[in-house]
Amino acid sequence: MADSARDTTEVDLLRGRQHTPPGILVIFGGAGDLSHRKLLPALYNLSLDGELPAHSAIVGFSMEDLTDDAYRKFARSGIEQFSRRPLDEDHWKKFAPLLHFVRGNFTDQSNYKALRDRLEAIDKEAGTQGNRVFYFAVPPAFIDPCSSGLHSAGMIRPATDATVFTRVVVEKPVGHDLASAREIDERLARYFDESQIFRIDHYLGKETVENLLVLRFANSMFEPLWSSRFIDHVQITVAEQEGVGTRADYYDHAGALRDMVQSHLLQVLCMIAMEAPRTTGADAVRDAKLDVLRSLKPFDADEVGRFVVRGQYGEGLVAGEKAKAYREEEHIAPDSMTETFVAMRCFVENWRWAGVPFYLRTGKRLPKRASEIAIFFKSVPRILFNSRPRPPLEPNILVVRIQPDEGLALNIISKLPGAELRLAPVKVDFHYTTASPEAYETLLRDVMIGDQTLFMRRDTVEAAWQFIQNILDVWAAAPSEPKIYSAGSWGPVESALMIATDGRAWRTP
Ligand code: BG6
Repeated sequence: MADSARDTTEVDLLRGRQHTPPGILVIFGGAGDLSHRKLLPALYNLSLDGELPAHSAIVGFSMEDLTDDAYRKFARSGIEQFSRRPLDEDHWKKFAPLLHFVRGNFTDQSNYKALRDRLEAIDKEAGTQGNRVFYFAVPPAFIDPCSSGLHSAGMIRPATDATVFTRVVVEKPVGHDLASAREIDERLARYFDESQIFRIDHYLGKETVENLLVLRFANSMFEPLWSSRFIDHVQITVAEQEGVGTRADYYDHAGALRDMVQSHLLQVLCMIAMEAPRTTGADAVRDAKLDVLRSLKPFDADEVGRFVVRGQYGEGLVAGEKAKAYREEEHIAPDSMTETFVAMRCFVENWRWAGVPFYLRTGKRLPKRASEIAIFFKSVPRILFNSRPRPPLEPNILVVRIQPDEGLALNIISKLPGAELRLAPVKVDFHYTTASPEAYETLLRDVMIGDQTLFMRRDTVEAAWQFIQNILDVWAAAPSEPKIYSAGSWGPVESALMIATDGRAWRTP
């Protein structure tokens, strides 16, 4: 952690330092993009840190025709390209034998018997004791066939069995809308108990997002100020410089509202707005987040028109390079109406937050990759130091930088050195200096130790969809062209106008 900000006193660990138990992680879609870029590099880093148990195995399960050796090569190339730490030849020799591959079609029940036999053989060789984590890195349509395949091959042990565990990891998006999310949850519940289901939102595994709770509830100076009494408004920005990349098929059907707001931005909002949970236990934390989602004021049609902005990138310049318009990207229809940018104003209608606007925005092809939360405190009254200057003094702003350059900054007003009494904002800045683990490392480890705190519970996912569904319905009832913005800009002008109608402006991260 940062220089002066942490002394040598070791803080109590509320979570972690538990040993990961023996077991097999089976990745459905194990030869896919998510495995290559994220899961396998994360597992390698866990292994480097000694966080993978001695008796463990990783099995890729998917359609590709791969041998164990070929799968190891696939993993190695993912680690070489995407691991946060370089591949170490000595360590690779220990890690590679943990990897196995089973070829299978998710909808063909006979493949699950082959999978079961292979896992049982690995249990005998590697001492993995029958414990299983099934990671569904597959499109939502396959969740049901995969669950029922596991069930009919007798691979799902009940949650009540204290001797072994079966856990399942489900990637976002859970569904396409409220109805489909409910259906997926309903189907999962036929095979798994809620305590066995780990719904991933990788933003919750990011160090700085998790740190929000610590910031708020382990320091006495923030919480007394954390309400409509002292806070004017909150801005949450998740900006990406990248365009749609190679995920056109998925993204063009999803769009930024489903892809980012329904999950990542609402989860971050929960961390900012929630009450102190009763304990640090998974259900207490998730109950507190659920209260926030249920307190979000639903939009009516008129408000959607005024306070939710849909944008799509046109061509432009990103980091000095010419960037194509979204509609010119590969596999995107030239008349696609999908939004790549959303900005909105919402309210958490409870005693603490009544009247405080939360402005959210996210988009692709913005000027830089930057995710942050900015808490704008109320301005000091227009008396004393604030009576003369024009324009008025800037308010205090607490900025939590989620990525990159993770850290915290607080703008305070200070006297400029000199005989005259001149005031200006100065920044108290705190940077994390050590490389944080990747979100997937934290989350995979939590699944293995069975800690659900950072995973979305069924009711939380459905409450988030409930809020988003109103907007989707209004958009579907009167389809309109998204507002085009130049790639490399901060979104359509309507986004700036939306916040300007409240007499405020977006902060530039
Ligand atoms: C994913 C979205 O969940 O998050 C992507 O599907 C997005 O569209 C990504 O690019 C952003 O994650 P990160 O960790 O790079 O901010």
